[in-house]
Amino acid sequence: IKRVTTHTLQELKSKKEKISCLTAYDYSMAKLIDAAGIEVILVGDSASNVMAGHETTLPITLDQMIYHAQSVVRAVKRALVVVDLPFGSYQGSSEEALRSAVRIMKESGAHAVKMEGGEEIRKSISRVLSAGIPVMGHLGLTPQSIYKFGTYAVRAKEEAEAQKLKDDASLLDELGCFAYVLEKIPSTLAKEVTESVNIPSIGIGAGPHCDGQILVMHDMLGINKEFKPRFLRRYADIGDVILGAVSKYVDDVKTSDFPSENEAY
Ligand code: KIV
Ligand code: NA
Repeated sequence: IKRVTTHTLQELKSKKEKISCLTAYDYSMAKLIDAAGIEVILVGDSASNVMAGHETTLPITLDQMIYHAQSVVRAVKRALVVVDLPFGSYQGSSEEALRSAVRIMKESGAHAVKMEGGEEIRKSISRVLSAGIPVMGHLGLTPQSIYKFGTYAVRAKEEAEAQKLKDDASLLDELGCFAYVLEKIPSTLAKEVTESVNIPSIGIGAGPHCDGQILVMHDMLGINKEFKPRFLRRYADIGDVILGAVSKYVDDVKTSDFPSENEAY
């Protein structure tokens, strides 16, 4: 199998072929979505929410991200594996950012890292890139800043924030990032940025004009049923399938239907 690289993504953008991305945090799921032909697997710090049950992405640690990344990397034969640098592991200084990114690359075997922000983390991005580590940016609704925003509402609706986002996207391109996520911003703004910036944009809640799309796997599979923003399309109701199967199992054990003689030695 031919592996997806950061260069593949740039080729896809120039051919106007859309880039498909999903999150994964464990071996079994990563194996399935890699086999299904996804181009990018993000080991997102959304693991803090969907794996660990935290309310925000802030509590997850670098060690925990590395554990998830190792599990995903073991499963993946084709996709590009990108890992989120967690909150607090890259904003303090460029040395800290490099140390964190190097740990992820060395200890997990992943192919790239992702960091939230533009101008304010410019030095951290440059330092990581200068070590030969590919960086994906992330602009718009950046969940590690949720306590600054105060809500999960759409970002960059006002001119000042929209202008900063455009400047930040150009900056990520100039610094040498290979792609960037645009999260929960107006579709028209995402279109403008996507058309003016050379590297591919990966949208989530950013409309149809981005170069690629990403969703959190547990959300699109209907495992996490409470979360239903407008941008989320449900591709399955796995939560219901699991509930049904487990209730049936409980029933079968209670009634001694399981195991049968055929299922015994
Ligand atoms: O952590 C995550 O899942 C993400 C994507 C939603 C872009 O950052
Ligand atoms: Na994230």
